[in-house]
Amino acid sequence: MPEQHSQLVDGFSRQITYVRLSVTDRCDLRCVYCMAEDMTFVPRAQLLTLEEIARLGRCFSELGVTKLRITGGEPLVRRNVLWLFEQLGALPGIRDLTVTTNGTQLPKYAAALKAAGVTRVNISLDSLQRERFAAITRKGELDQVLAGIDAALAAGFERVKLNSVILKHRNHDEVRDLVQFALDRGLDLSFIEEMPLGVIGDRDRAEAYYSSEAIRRDLAGRFALIPTTETTGGPSRYWRVTGHASRIGFISPHSHNFCGDCNRVRVTAEGRLLLCLGQEHSADLRRALRANPTDDKRVKQAIRQAMSIKPPGHDFDLTERPIIFRHMNATGG
Ligand code: GTP
Ligand code: 5AD
Ligand code: SF4
Repeated sequence: MPEQHSQLVDGFSRQITYVRLSVTDRCDLRCVYCMAEDMTFVPRAQLLTLEEIARLGRCFSELGVTKLRITGGEPLVRRNVLWLFEQLGALPGIRDLTVTTNGTQLPKYAAALKAAGVTRVNISLDSLQRERFAAITRKGELDQVLAGIDAALAAGFERVKLNSVILKHRNHDEVRDLVQFALDRGLDLSFIEEMPLGVIGDRDRAEAYYSSEAIRRDLAGRFALIPTTETTGGPSRYWRVTGHASRIGFISPHSHNFCGDCNRVRVTAEGRLLLCLGQEHSADLRRALRANPTDDKRVKQAIRQAMSIKPPGHDFDLTERPIIFRHMNATGG
């Protein structure tokens, strides 16, 4: 049995120790699996303020949450976001303060994030080929993200992880190159199966499906992968390559469901507490915050109560139209 330290326990006896806080749904890129080309974003007035997000972070930590991840859209495009990292970095109960970013702003922010107490950084990177990278992100520049990765390495975080969403015929032939890139730099790398969130255009998600198992088969010819039981408290299952510091992870919502061990909830930039990435069960924390401007007890009570509606897991089905209409940028994954 895990050590009982969180006051947040759901109806399936799962302890919630990991919270993902989205600070904006906006992004400077338009990755094809994440967004439609033309997006309407949440009006700024509806977003939680940074002070409100910091307050939520404090409430969660007092309830026993030990890991916070700041997400977006792209979190580093939110104005003054460093202030938030500084507040969260000072919370005594938080052992792991992490961020998931597309990397474009890291040349500017990496050192300051480290100074604020960020322990680990996850950076999206789906291709090492300039033109492909531009096509997948619809407007990204590979060199800018590579500079971001270098900046993260120079800043000295405990770990830097790459996230690669692998799509058949778009980038599946790059999995060996991506692993080699990670090994050469001591980076971790997670391969992610695409999840059907939101309508993203005409592309057929089922046709683009490329399973984690297919990736491991592709890697087997070149790398000796050894399975491990290591965990970062996230959904990745990790393998190691002999002689290297890197961990090669697989996030496989379709081929290896991990919902049974779920330890996390997420908050959208508007303050909706989402109990599962793949379902709509939610609680309105913005209302709880604003109705109780000085009383954290009430906010914590709202969070505690919401645990009872956490569903057992997602029902993703790539062959159907998405049943979840929000795009990934609304939750940051
Ligand atoms: P680590 O702390 O490094 O393990 O981070 P992480 O892998 O949990 O977070 P990251 O932001 O890098 O997310 C990687 C991928 O995992 C994204 O595609 C997320 O959408 C996905 N992911 C994270 N949590 C969940 C979850 O609860 N359910 C599903 N289906 N996917 C998740
Ligand atoms: N399916 C799987 N992963 C996705 N991401 C964004 N959209 C999707 C999707 N539909 C990934 C990004 C980023 C992380 C937060 O989620 O690449 O690394
Ligand atoms: Fe932006 Fe991340 Fe979505 Fe790509 S995956 S469009 S970088 S929020």
